[in-house]
Amino acid sequence: MKPTSITHLLQLKQQKTKFATITAYDASFAKLFEDQGIRVMLVGDSLGMTLQGHDSTLPVTIEDVAYHTRAVRRGAPYCLLLSDLPFMTYATPEQACANAATLMRAGANMVKLEGGSWLTETVQMLTDRAVPVCAHLGLTPQSVNIFGGYKVQGRDKDGADKLLEDALALEAAGAQLLVLECVPAALAKTITDAQQIPVIGIGAGKDTDGQILVMHDALGITGGHTPKFAKNFLAGQSDIRSAIRLYIEEVEQALNPAAEHTFNKFVTVIHRSLIREGDRSSVWRTT
Ligand code: KIV
Repeated sequence: MKPTSITHLLQLKQQKTKFATITAYDASFAKLFEDQGIRVMLVGDSLGMTLQGHDSTLPVTIEDVAYHTRAVRRGAPYCLLLSDLPFMTYATPEQACANAATLMRAGANMVKLEGGSWLTETVQMLTDRAVPVCAHLGLTPQSVNIFGGYKVQGRDKDGADKLLEDALALEAAGAQLLVLECVPAALAKTITDAQQIPVIGIGAGKDTDGQILVMHDALGITGGHTPKFAKNFLAGQSDIRSAIRLYIEEVEQALNPAAEHTFNKFVTVIHRSLIREGDRSSVWRTT
C-alpha cells in the first residue's frame, strides 16, 4: 500500500470523487479502519469526551494527543494522519510551532487547528516551516464557551459571510485542508466550491469533498446524546468492519449525510459567481 498524501486528496477533489475519513485514537481501530479502506484519519481532541469522559475538549493536552498519535500511526502506517492541536496550544505562532513539532514527531502528517482569520500568521508560519495545516471552521468545539453551547454556525448573513472570508483567508495563508463543522449545507457547498483545497464536512451536508465522523458516533456509542448529523453505521450490520465499509460506500456515493442528518438551510446562495469577483455583500439571502 502507498502512503496517502495531500496531493492524492487534491486529485480526488479535482475528479469530484468523495472520500471518507474518521477519528481514531488507538492502534487496533486504526488498523481496522485502514484495512477497510479509510485513507485519512484524525486524532481529534474529541478524545477528551470520547475517551476521557470530559464534557468538552478543553482539558486535552498536547501530551494526550501525541500519545494517541503514536498509537494510531503504529496501527495505520499508510494513512494521512491529522492530529489536533488542543485548546491553548497555539495561542501564539511560536507556541503553535513548538507543539506542532511534538505532533509531527509522534507521527502526524498534518496538524489541525480551530479558528478563523486570526490564525493566518500561525498557518503561514507553520507551512513555511514544513508543517501542513488543516483549518477547522464552523462549530469549533474549543470555543464552546464563546458560542454558549454546541450550536450550528453560519445561519445568518453575517455569520455566513465571516465563515466564507475566514475560509478564503486561511487557504491564502497556506492551509491545505479545511474541516467545516455544523454549518448549513448550502453554505458548506458554497465554501467547498470557492476553495481549491479539499473541504471535509461534519454536520455540513453532503456536498463537501470529504466527510468525517467521530468513530464513536459512527458506531452508535454516543453515551445517550446522538448529534443530529451522526448516523450509526453499525445498526443492521454484522460487525464493525462492515459498518465502516458501509460508511465509506455511502460517502463515496454522496448518500451520506442523508437529509435527516443535515442542518436546514437558513442562508441561500443567490449569486455564487460573485464570490470570486469579491462582491460578497449580495451572496446570501436568508430564507
Ligand atoms: O476532535 C475531533 O474529533 C474533530 C472532528 C469532530 C472533526 O475535530
